[in-house]
Amino acid sequence: MSVTAATSPSVGSFHPSCRRSTRLAALPRFRMSVRSAAVSVTPLVTELRKDCTTPLPLLRHVADAMAADMRAGLAVEGGSDLKMILSYVDSLPTGNEKGLFYALDLGGTNFRVLRVQLGGKEERVIATEFDQVPIPKDLMFGTSEELFDFIASGLAQFAQNEGNKFHLPTGTKREIGFTFSFPVKQTAVDSGILIKWTKGFSVSGTAGRDVVACLNEAMERLGLDMRVSALVNDTVGTLAGARYWDDDVMVAVILGTGTNACYVERVDAIPKLQDHASSGSTIINTEWGAFSKGLPLTEFDRDMDAASINPGEQIFEKTISGMYLGEIVRRVLLKMAEADALFGDSILEKLSTPFVLGTPDLCAMQQDTSDDLQDVGSILYNVAGVESNPSARKIVVEVCDTIVKRGGRLAGAGIVGILQKMEEDSKGVIFGKRTVVAMDGGLYENYPQYRTYLSEAVTELLGDDSAKNVVIEHSKDGSGIGAALLAAANSKYHSHDS
Ligand code: BGC
Repeated sequence: MSVTAATSPSVGSFHPSCRRSTRLAALPRFRMSVRSAAVSVTPLVTELRKDCTTPLPLLRHVADAMAADMRAGLAVEGGSDLKMILSYVDSLPTGNEKGLFYALDLGGTNFRVLRVQLGGKEERVIATEFDQVPIPKDLMFGTSEELFDFIASGLAQFAQNEGNKFHLPTGTKREIGFTFSFPVKQTAVDSGILIKWTKGFSVSGTAGRDVVACLNEAMERLGLDMRVSALVNDTVGTLAGARYWDDDVMVAVILGTGTNACYVERVDAIPKLQDHASSGSTIINTEWGAFSKGLPLTEFDRDMDAASINPGEQIFEKTISGMYLGEIVRRVLLKMAEADALFGDSILEKLSTPFVLGTPDLCAMQQDTSDDLQDVGSILYNVAGVESNPSARKIVVEVCDTIVKRGGRLAGAGIVGILQKMEEDSKGVIFGKRTVVAMDGGLYENYPQYRTYLSEAVTELLGDDSAKNVVIEHSKDGSGIGAALLAAANSKYHSHDS
């Protein structure tokens, strides 16, 4: 299932939102003896709204704390929640890159392979092809070998079907940019050790190991002769991919299943970097998902965290990213159903199942503009197994909006924290000129309300003057092309001409 595309779609692994609802079964004729729940549930909604509120001073506090945590993480290893990982990517794509390169992307519910023929400044991207395969659930909880064997065999299959638009010079190996979207302590541009899994992965035997070695071993087991020339986080791939087209890109943010941000940092602003000979700047992978200061959290967040496979970790991620928003809402609705019969006497078995309600379902519900919220009713019935009357549905939409608004606004505050830190170090470098923040990930791409809340928060925080220079832009190529470009920049054959 190879797809050829001039520009490939987003690599974000949070699935295109509102799609799940396109094949909704018709709503059954309810025994809606369900008494109107609106009155009794109202105090719970009011309380939730109050607990999740993100007024400007709170956002400002979050942005400041993000900037302070960045500094602490740059000062010493382990100095803050934010790991501030060195990417070893010291030069970004110039446009001169030439040749055939592969990219492999593992970061969420799908893994993707891509090849690109680069033609230098004149021809740019001559051809791309990609393939996307969902990661079987059991592999997310299996062994490292099983996971990497699966990836290597997907890569092998894809590499076999290379069409004649792609040309590899004789005597060279196919080179790969490997996007691995989990916290990795880079040891070089082409190697790094997995610190821990996130986003629901719990594969045994990978943490503490070089993930490139894991991939190489799996490729050897298959007799696949390819070489990883760059190991990158998805944020770094996104930054590289966006920079290829636009020199003003300084920050990249992923909002998908998980979340993270990276940015261009001056080497002399990284005290923990002692003997790294380098030019003026490098890319820092913040791993901001681990941020935790000043967030307006509720009992539902705390309970979800306690029940997660990584309690106490990735708190920012658990508050703002696609894997978790649906689950928070489910927990709120379950409480309202149990305490106040929001869904009448519906059986709550399905609604009691963790993660049964996905963020795409919230998104679909928020797009329903009909008077009686028929789509909301159908989704609640089909996905969560509950019957609802229009006033209950209205409450459900309000709950979705409350959680999504909090997430979007906090994400916006995080972005401002990064910009603020960069501006404090070199006045004018961010707000004095056009600065682009490249965004990717399914949550950002597919959830219009989330996107709006995010950009409103950024504007509120920056004020109109500074905000007019900051461009928040969806980076359509995702990290795939970026990883391939970084493979080109680090090719051992120097097939680029820099
Ligand atoms: C990971 C990051 C990644 C982000 C977005 C997080 O869970 O820790 O490395 O960039 O998800 O995919």
